[in-house]
Amino acid sequence: MSKKVKFTIDGNEISAEEGKNLLDVACENGYYIPALCHMKGHKPAGSCRLCNVKVNGRIMTACTTLVSEGMEVITEDEELAELRKTILEAMFVDGNHFCPACEKSGVCDLQALAYKHKIMSPKFKYEFSNKKVEAEVPKIMLEKNRCILCKKCIRAIKSKDGKNIFGFKARGKKLEITMDEELAAQMTDEDIQRAMDICPVGTIIKKEKGFKIPIGKRKYDKKPIGDNVEKHKEKEKD
Ligand code: FES
Repeated sequence: MSKKVKFTIDGNEISAEEGKNLLDVACENGYYIPALCHMKGHKPAGSCRLCNVKVNGRIMTACTTLVSEGMEVITEDEELAELRKTILEAMFVDGNHFCPACEKSGVCDLQALAYKHKIMSPKFKYEFSNKKVEAEVPKIMLEKNRCILCKKCIRAIKSKDGKNIFGFKARGKKLEITMDEELAAQMTDEDIQRAMDICPVGTIIKKEKGFKIPIGKRKYDKKPIGDNVEKHKEKEKD
C-alpha cells in the first residue's frame, strides 16, 4: 500500500498518496488552480506556468510538484493572482486571440481564464502573429496563431501505431505547432473531435461541422472556469 502524507492547502489539512502531483491532489480536494497544459494521467509538461502556487513560501508549478509530508501550500494570494494575470496577458499578445470571431468562444480555457482574471486589455504590445494556417488536410485545420504551445495535442493524440500526429517545428520565437498531414488525413471524425476538445484554445478545428452548441450557450458562457471544482470554497461559504 502506498504511503500517505499530510500537508496543508490554504491552511486546511490534506492527506494524499505520496508521489502524486499537487495539482491533481488539490483538484481532488476541491481547490481550483488554473492550468492550461496539464492533463491528468499524462506526464506534466510544465509549459504554461499558470498553475503557480506557493509551497513553503516559494513559487512553484503545482503540476510538477509532488506532495510531501508537512508542505504548506497557498493556492491564492495577491502575488499569485498578479503573476497568473501577467502570464495570461503574455499569451494573449503572443497569439491572435480574437475571441468574438473564434469558433472556440465559450469553450476556450484561455478566454475563460482571461474573464476569471478580469483582463481588459493586456499591458504588453501585441505581436500580431502571422503564421500560416495549415488547412490542406480535408477534415482538420490548424490555426497556429492561436496556439499557446501547451503540447497537449502532441502528448495525447497519436496515430493507431503510436506515432506523433502533432509536433513542434522551429525554435525560440518561431516555435510553432504543426501536424503530419499524412497521419492527420487518416484520423477518424472521433479522433479529430478529441483533438479539438483537448486543445485549450481554438487551434485545432474540425472542418465541415461546427460546434454543436451555439455561442452564448456554451459551458463557460454559463459558468466561470473552475467553478465545478471549487467544492471546498462552496462549503466554506455555506
Ligand atoms: Fe502546470 Fe501548465 S498546468 S505548468
